[in-house]
Amino acid sequence: MTHARLKRLLLLTAYQSPMALRTLLILHPVDRNALRDPGRWEPEYRDGGWDWLWNSREAIHHQVIAAYSKALAGKAAILDVGCGEGVLHDALRCVGYERYTGIDLSATAVARAARSSDERTHFVVADAETFETAERFNLIVLNECLYYLADPPALLARLARFLEPGGAFIISMAMGGLADGLLMLSLWRDLERDFAVREEVSLLQDPGSLRIIKILQPLQRDGYSRTRPPNARITQTDTRHTTTTIDKAQRSHM
Ligand SMILES: C[S@@+](CC[C@H](N)C(=O)[O-])C[C@H]1O[C@@H](n2cnc3c(N)ncnc32)[C@H](O)[C@@H]1O
Repeated sequence: MTHARLKRLLLLTAYQSPMALRTLLILHPVDRNALRDPGRWEPEYRDGGWDWLWNSREAIHHQVIAAYSKALAGKAAILDVGCGEGVLHDALRCVGYERYTGIDLSATAVARAARSSDERTHFVVADAETFETAERFNLIVLNECLYYLADPPALLARLARFLEPGGAFIISMAMGGLADGLLMLSLWRDLERDFAVREEVSLLQDPGSLRIIKILQPLQRDGYSRTRPPNARITQTDTRHTTTTIDKAQRSHM
């Protein structure tokens, strides 16, 4: 077995077993700020460092997010946090939306994305950690950006203020190596304390990579207890879907 496959096997085990995750995190503690570096984005976009996001390998998970967007909300109002150059926007536009707002720290990335602006589509230079808006959205997407932010559970809690009732987050996080994989699995674990997982799908791509996409909704606070919110509106669920979806209840029996 190659080193990359072994790492992926460890991550898959930790993904499916909270006890394996706890053990691996003791053996291999993670630095929650390891990927946070707000100063990196502008020069990296200027130098074409993220051009590879337009390749066909990335397009696969963009299609998954776009399909979820259509199934969850049909013609949705979407906030795309950390939209970069608008790569995901291309896929979302194909399935249709009512309104789309993309925000990103990098002015260079936003200027490129803004070539696709129209009356329903806006791109804004903004820091997700301080962004404010009077708009409300059916979906808030964080595609491969949550792990770059300081406090993901706190960020989602503040972004949840912009969700319409019954709205949901679609979050994608990819894991290449063991260290960043454990960081992401620990982030998922923390997010699931405050958010209910409605759907999830995992994609195995090249030998080392495991990508997880989840639909999350804020748990409702009711006095001291927290309850699951009413189901996100999934209008086009298909029974074939269950072959690729592992829900939380199934996972705890694996
Ligand atoms: C790996 S890129 C992903 C871009 C895009 N979501 C995609 O998949 O094509 C991460 C993005 O997060 C953005 N980002 C990082 N920190 C941010 C913040 N605090 N507020 C807004 N955007 C941020 C970066 O500028 C960058 O465009």
